Amino acid sequence: MDAEALEREGLAAAAAATTSEEIESVRVEYLGRKSVLKQALREVRDRETGMTLNAVRVRLEEAIDAREAELARAELDERLTTERVDVTLPVGGYERGRLHLITQIRREVEDVFLGLGYTVVDGREVELTHYNFDGLNFPPAHPARSSLASLFVDDEVVLRTETSPSQIRAMEGQQPPVYICTLGRVYRRDTPDATHSPIFHQVEGLAVDEGITLADLKGTLRHLLRQLFGEDVDARFVTDFFPFTEPSLGAYVSCFVCKGAGCRLCKYEGWIEIGGSGMVDPNVLRFVGYDPDRVSGFAFGWGLERIAIVRHGVPDIRMLWEDDLRVLGQF
Ligand code: DAH
Repeated sequence: MDAEALEREGLAAAAAATTSEEIESVRVEYLGRKSVLKQALREVRDRETGMTLNAVRVRLEEAIDAREAELARAELDERLTTERVDVTLPVGGYERGRLHLITQIRREVEDVFLGLGYTVVDGREVELTHYNFDGLNFPPAHPARSSLASLFVDDEVVLRTETSPSQIRAMEGQQPPVYICTLGRVYRRDTPDATHSPIFHQVEGLAVDEGITLADLKGTLRHLLRQLFGEDVDARFVTDFFPFTEPSLGAYVSCFVCKGAGCRLCKYEGWIEIGGSGMVDPNVLRFVGYDPDRVSGFAFGWGLERIAIVRHGVPDIRMLWEDDLRVLGQF
């Protein structure tokens, strides 16, 4: 073997390599286990040849290392320029998220009441029957106390069937005047259909002060209706019954589908109920230690899903729970 020729050839090959892969094959070819040089080294018998071949090996190694480093640096530079990310470019293709329709309505209602000077308070979704029924003047045999209608944890604990128990907790915690509202989920043992859901949302409002009358109730609720549905919303109040109010009033707005003419959605009534209200029953005031001869109040509990259905023409309440972005993205 001609060591000099081999070295020249190896150095030339290293110099000619233009990529990391090429220099790697040069290394394998000239310094790899099966290379001519390595084989020759293995067979060396005399010291002089050994020293010569080793010197060639060292010089080839150095040349290949140097070329490899050079190529790696050049390749890195190349990548740094071609793969550079311009962080100042506008980001495209991402859709902004938004609040769920029910959350939007919830916040709107909160804003209306904050604007009227009310305090927004929290209630409990897992509630004592003491607050959910007893404090609200439900008679012992009322159907809502049945496990067929309500979801009980045990005899004394129930998933609240309405936001009204928050009224009792609010009044227990302070003396009049009371101006509070509370919003959140309520639970009933209902099978889901177009207008029923075992979980839904209510807004509860309560005002207790000296000299509160039914006129205050209607004025306040008409204000809320105008804020939610616009200035010329068609609304009416009809007598109703709730154990905790006397008298009781149901609030109706005209049906969004038929504009009052009568259709399937409104069961040919032309009106859709948004929720109940009334003057706080003296029994309820007494339950929390208030004097019904000195103070009076009104209360209401409306469904947020109902508001959504009427305002946006949502044909089926279940759509609000299905998390289909094609639906939710419209609001
Ligand atoms: N809690 C009633 C319901 O879920 C709604 C309601 C009616 C709330 C009258 C009130 C009220 O505060 O005064 O059907």
